Amino acid sequence: MIFHVLTLFPDMIREGCNNSILKRAMEKNLIEIHAVDIRDYTQEKHGKVDDYTYGGGAGMLMQAQPVFDAWEDVVKSTGLTSGKEGAQEGRRVRTVYVTPQGTPFSQKLAKDFAKEEQLIFLCGHYEGIDERVLEEIVTDQVSIGDYVLTGGELPAMVMIDAVSRLIPGVLGSEESAQTESFENDLLEYPQYSRPEVWHGKAVPEVLLSGDHKKIKAWRLEQSKERTKRWRPDLYEKYAAREQLAARLMKHKKENAYMIDSLLKGKVKILHVEGDAAVCQSLDGHLIMLCCETLEQGEKLLQYVPKDTGLLLHNCAAINGILESEWGLQVGDECYQSVYTQHTALPIAHKDIRPYPIEALEYASANYGDGKAREYLRDRILSGEFFAAWQDGEIAGFCGVHDGGSLGLLYVEPKYRRTSIGSSLASYLVNWSLEHGGIPYAHIRVHNVASLKMQEKMGLYVGSRTVFWTYRRRGEK
Ligand code: ADE
Repeated sequence: MIFHVLTLFPDMIREGCNNSILKRAMEKNLIEIHAVDIRDYTQEKHGKVDDYTYGGGAGMLMQAQPVFDAWEDVVKSTGLTSGKEGAQEGRRVRTVYVTPQGTPFSQKLAKDFAKEEQLIFLCGHYEGIDERVLEEIVTDQVSIGDYVLTGGELPAMVMIDAVSRLIPGVLGSEESAQTESFENDLLEYPQYSRPEVWHGKAVPEVLLSGDHKKIKAWRLEQSKERTKRWRPDLYEKYAAREQLAARLMKHKKENAYMIDSLLKGKVKILHVEGDAAVCQSLDGHLIMLCCETLEQGEKLLQYVPKDTGLLLHNCAAINGILESEWGLQVGDECYQSVYTQHTALPIAHKDIRPYPIEALEYASANYGDGKAREYLRDRILSGEFFAAWQDGEIAGFCGVHDGGSLGLLYVEPKYRRTSIGSSLASYLVNWSLEHGGIPYAHIRVHNVASLKMQEKMGLYVGSRTVFWTYRRRGEK
C-alpha cells in the first residue's frame, strides 16, 4: 500500500510515521509513505502558498495552484487514474481531504481504505483550502472527530496508522487485528496478563479454566456490559440487530441471509413490521428484505431508497411490483441451504489458508470468466477468501460473497474427486460459525448437482426460494 501525503509540513509526516509498527512495515516494504511538500510547487517567487480570503474574514487560505500542481504530479507518479475522472474504472486513486467538515472516520472506513492500492491525503492549514481545487481533486472528505486541530497532518497520520494495521503482514500474529473494538458495534472485553494476583486483584477465574466455550461467552458478556456503559449509542444498534435476528429465527431456513448479516453486524435495520423486516448493507449497495405477504412487502418498500440497485428477498408476491414500480429485474432465483447445527464440520484437507493477494490473477482466470477480477480482489482483501494448497501450489479456492452467502468455489481439474472440494466447503461452514453467523449458500434452482452436494454435507434447503433483483447497468 502506498500513501502520499500532500502537506506544508512533510517532516512532521516523515518523523511521525518513522517509529514502531509503521517503521517496521516500511522496512518490510508492506507500506510506503511519501510526504510531498506543497510549497515546492508554488509559482510565487517568495514561496508563498496562502492568501487572504475573498469576502473578508480572519486568517489565510491555501491557494489552488500549488495544491493542484502537487496533486497532479503525485497522481502521475501513481500510474493510476484520478478518482474523479476514473471513478467507474477499477484502478483509480482516491484523494482524501482531511477536514473537520468531513465524514467521521471509522473502523469501517479504515477497512474500506485498506483495500486501495494507493491513497492520497491532502492536509489543510490556516483557514483551509480554496474550494475550487477541492471540487476538482477530492474524492473523500474525512474528519477524525468533532474538534479542530491546527492542521491535517495529525489526522492523516491517524488514518495511515489505522489503515496500515489492517494490511496483511503489518501486525505480527501476536498483535492480531482479528478480535477488536468496533467489530459488530461492540467494544473489546478486558484482558489480563501475569501475575495472577496484582495489588490484591485476581484475574477472573474463568480465564484460568481452559474452557474455551465458557471464556468466549464471558468475553462476549463483558463486551456487552462495557458497550452498554460507555457507548450506549453503539449498544442500541447491536441490541436491535440481536432482537430482530432472534425474531427471524422462527423461520431460520427462509430468513438465513438476513439473520446472518444481522448477527455479523453487516447491515443496519431500515424498518421492522412484525416478523418482516428490511435492512441495508453498511456500504449501502444491497437491500435485504424478508416478508410473507404482498402487504408486508409494500409497507417495507416505503423505507427503501428509490435508487436501490440490488435487492434480495424471499417473497415471490413482491416480484411484480419490483419489476413494474421499481424498475428492478428479477434475476437469479435460488434455493437457500442452511447449516442448522452449531458444531464444526470435520475437514480432511488440512492446508487451507487466507488467499494471497499475489495470486489474484489465478482466481480471476478461474472464476467468472475473467470478469470478476475487482470483486475477487475485494473478497481477498476482506479476509473472506481462502485457498487450499497441495504440493506448494493452489489446488482450489472458496469464499464468502459480499452479501454473506458461502461459495466462490473452484477446484483445479486434477484435484477434482479428491477431498479438496468438500474440505473447502466445510472450511467455509466452520469459518462462518466461528464468526458468529449462520452458514448458508444460495444455489440457483436448476443447479441440481450443487444442491445434492449441500445436502450431503448436512445443509438443509429451505422451503422458499430467494430472489436476487437488480437494476440493469446504466438504468436509473
Ligand atoms: N483538520 C483540523 N481538524 C481536523 C479534524 N478534526 N479532522 C480532520 N482534519 C482536521
